[in-house]
Amino acid sequence: MRRAIRLTVNGRAVTGEVEPRRNLADFLREDLDLTGTHVGCEHGVCGACTVLLAGEPVRACLLLAVQADGTQVTTIEGLAPPEGGLHPVQEAFWDRHALQCGFCTPGMVLTAAALLRRNPRPTEAEIRVELSGNLCMCTGYINIIRAVRLAAERLAAAAQQVPGSQFAVPGPVSGTGHGPARIPESGSSHD
Ligand code: FES
Ligand code: FES
Repeated sequence: MRRAIRLTVNGRAVTGEVEPRRNLADFLREDLDLTGTHVGCEHGVCGACTVLLAGEPVRACLLLAVQADGTQVTTIEGLAPPEGGLHPVQEAFWDRHALQCGFCTPGMVLTAAALLRRNPRPTEAEIRVELSGNLCMCTGYINIIRAVRLAAERLAAAAQQVPGSQFAVPGPVSGTGHGPARIPESGSSHD
């Protein structure tokens, strides 16, 4: 039996009807067409499916869509500022060549953005620990760590000019954006 859910995704109120067993990753990708949330291992190991739930990283493959009912979710599509441009972490990944195939990148970027919101000046060891749940098969991680350090420096510099700005950028999305959107019922590969 399907259950109605209502949540905020990237600042937009959405509703849907889902099977209780449907995971959040499938709901985001297949019902909302937010395919920047990648699916790799599907059992909580690789981190490719990472999204932010109330601003904190979670594995969307391990969370049921019904568990996200009433919450605020941010996917990679919702991280950049609405007025355009890139989020500072995305910009730093670009500048430091911190990706190759890009499959791990949405999860890496969201995890890093959440880290810098909690801890604006992480040490390299803290960055490594935080990203240890996100696997990358291509880069060797060096440039990813450089990118997170660069983003931290830029956010700190911006915060000196505009106090508090380092918290304003990567935090949880709030508000209802463009109003409720009805999500059509659809099947899933797991249904
Ligand atoms: S797909 Fe979710 S952790 Fe790998
Ligand atoms: S860039 Fe290919 S898996 Fe990380």
